[in-house]
Amino acid sequence: MSYNLLKGKKGIIFGALDEKSIAWKVAMRAKEEGAEFVLTNAPIAMRMGEINKLAEACNAQIIPADATSVEDLENLFTKAQEILGGKLDFVLHSIGSSPNIRKGKAYGDLNYDWFLKTLDISAISFHKVMHVAEKQDAMNEWGSVVALSYIAAQRVFPDYTDMSHAKAVLESIARNYGYRLGRSKKIRVNTISQSPTKTTAGTGVGGFDAFYDYADKMSPLGNASAEACADYTITLFSDLTRYVTMQNLMHDGGFSSMGISEDIVDLISK
Ligand SMILES: NC(=O)c1ccc[n+]([C@@H]2O[C@H](COP(=O)([O-])OP(=O)(O)OC[C@H]3O[C@@H](n4cnc5c(N)ncnc54)[C@H](O)[C@@H]3O)[C@@H](O)[C@H]2O)c1
Repeated sequence: MSYNLLKGKKGIIFGALDEKSIAWKVAMRAKEEGAEFVLTNAPIAMRMGEINKLAEACNAQIIPADATSVEDLENLFTKAQEILGGKLDFVLHSIGSSPNIRKGKAYGDLNYDWFLKTLDISAISFHKVMHVAEKQDAMNEWGSVVALSYIAAQRVFPDYTDMSHAKAVLESIARNYGYRLGRSKKIRVNTISQSPTKTTAGTGVGGFDAFYDYADKMSPLGNASAEACADYTITLFSDLTRYVTMQNLMHDGGFSSMGISEDIVDLISK
């Protein structure tokens, strides 16, 4: 159902790879709510071509950008404002990748060059995005910037290895840039800490099925889906959450408040 929550708002959505991507669901919901936006992803991700289907469905243009490249981001923000005919109201950072996870490196055996790559792609890129937006004065007052995080920033999930550090940095960047952009332009910056979700990035983590089921059984509401995450993101882009900033917002069906659940007790007692 549409509530016209984003009528007249313009934005950039990073990270829609395929239909399962959280960013894909956000784009579909944002369109439904009346937003106009530009889609972007790393040039290498474009090769799959899936994003073209989304662009067609949302009547959106695509501008490739490697989020670790300030030059690409400058081009993206300049072109997005030209295409949309003005400054932006929202930005979604839905980006994550760890070469160490992809190549099966255990925590005690990390490749440090890849560790730096993980941090650059999954966290520092968020700083670069806001740095470019600020330098170009690309956002309107009361704009909203959201990035996606995971509870491994606060708790230990052994297979999440260096991504857990990237998420901790990402959440810290949200607080620090949130202060800066809040003071200068009343722009809010938040991270959403999402339940395990069956996407390309999610299922790439070792033992994903086990911790997906574990989280589902621990959470009184069950795991939050990608569609539900999109709904929540839309509220953060809307004018209904203007004073929410510098927060890491749990969107996890209650998981983060649990110690143990009856479902888990039953499972272990069997
Ligand atoms: N899936 C989960 O279980 C889960 C849970 C919590 C948080 N998240 C976070 O949600 C976000 C989106 O992931 P997803 O689950 O939708 O998976 P996804 O694989 O669909 O999306 C990850 C995206 O990052 C993009 N990307 C990678 N390197 C990039 C670069 N250099 N420049 C620009 N884009 C780049 C990929 O092309 C892809 O579109 C990530 O930050 C992820 O960590 C996912």
